[in-house]
Amino acid sequence: MSRAYQKIRADLKLRPRKWLVTGVAGFIGSNILEALLNLEQEVVGLDNFATGFQHNLDQVQASVGAESWKKFKFIKGDILNLSDCRKSVEGVNCVLHQAALGSVPRSIEDPIMTNATNISGFLNMLVAARDANVDSFTYAASSSTYGDHEALPKVEGTIGNPLSPYAVTKYVNELYANVFARTYGFKCIGLRYFNIFGRRQDPNGAYAAVVPKWINAILSNETVMINGDGETSRDFCYVDNAVQMNLLAAVAPNSARDEIYNVAFNARTSLNELFLSLKTELKNLNINYNAEPVHVDFRKGDVRHSQADIFKARDMLGYNPDYDIDKGLHEVMPWYLKSFSDNSNTTL
Ligand SMILES: NC(=O)c1ccc[n+]([C@@H]2O[C@H](COP(=O)([O-])OP(=O)(O)OC[C@H]3O[C@@H](n4cnc5c(N)ncnc54)[C@H](O)[C@@H]3O)[C@@H](O)[C@H]2O)c1
Repeated sequence: MSRAYQKIRADLKLRPRKWLVTGVAGFIGSNILEALLNLEQEVVGLDNFATGFQHNLDQVQASVGAESWKKFKFIKGDILNLSDCRKSVEGVNCVLHQAALGSVPRSIEDPIMTNATNISGFLNMLVAARDANVDSFTYAASSSTYGDHEALPKVEGTIGNPLSPYAVTKYVNELYANVFARTYGFKCIGLRYFNIFGRRQDPNGAYAAVVPKWINAILSNETVMINGDGETSRDFCYVDNAVQMNLLAAVAPNSARDEIYNVAFNARTSLNELFLSLKTELKNLNINYNAEPVHVDFRKGDVRHSQADIFKARDMLGYNPDYDIDKGLHEVMPWYLKSFSDNSNTTL
């Protein structure tokens, strides 16, 4: 754990803050919630369960225990409703805005809903947070903003053209955040997440991310489908690294605000390599999968390669990711196994 992160954790315990986590019933939001409650923070969570789940909140409750859970207040509401945003942000010090409709393919299927949630919902949250005079506003941006720019590693200042409606929405978030800094002096931090994986990431449905989807397929003894030749590569980032960045950003000094930071590990893993790593990790847990993957078409809107430069986050925020992909997979696999068996060996 980086020294900066250790220091911030100790400081938060001494001087707890009040947080708002939007998208709290989702994958990343529920992991942030768990970390904050473990640090004895007071947390308000906002979610409309569009893609999040009550069972994610139940798991956090079970993990943090009754005392910490008392410090959590859940608001079932919609970021498209300005009064829900205003209610959620009352008396809050730090906003961690995660709520959005994720997934490139979903945005290609339904650009209107993705646009509404990710742009109008984002703007509502910005306005509500600005008016409530919060100390900090940190939001989930996306590596999809690098679009068709091919240079590797990806450096925050150089982006290409967006390749999907989703990428447009996440870029518009950055533009709005910057305009709010210029126009109202409201300085936010955008976190460009690269492929985040970890516990509570939904393995089901057409828009599931590759890591949980393949784990589910392997455990169900189904065929793993690889889009394209499998040489497409990503900078897979364990969720605890993303939690670290959210906390560092939330308490960052003014000089580090009105900025965008990559959130990744700074390594590149191809889909073929990922498949082998998953098989190996499961083999270590006595689960053998001998079927060959099937290669299908490349996915529309996907970039070919992705790897982040994380120098800026290290330099300005003291970010130091504790988990590479293997350490992350090693940590998360028992969780997936347990979820799988809890769900009667059908689906996760
Ligand atoms: N997971 C990744 O690899 C990744 C990569 C880049 C960016 N992101 C961004 O990170 C954030 C969190 O993603 P995630 O992977 O945890 O996804 P997720 O779908 O698990 O979580 C999103 C949460 O937002 C909630 N939500 C959606 N629309 C809402 C609305 N109108 N009002 C209130 N709540 C709403 C959902 O119910 C869900 O709980 C998103 O902004 C996403 O775009 C994620």
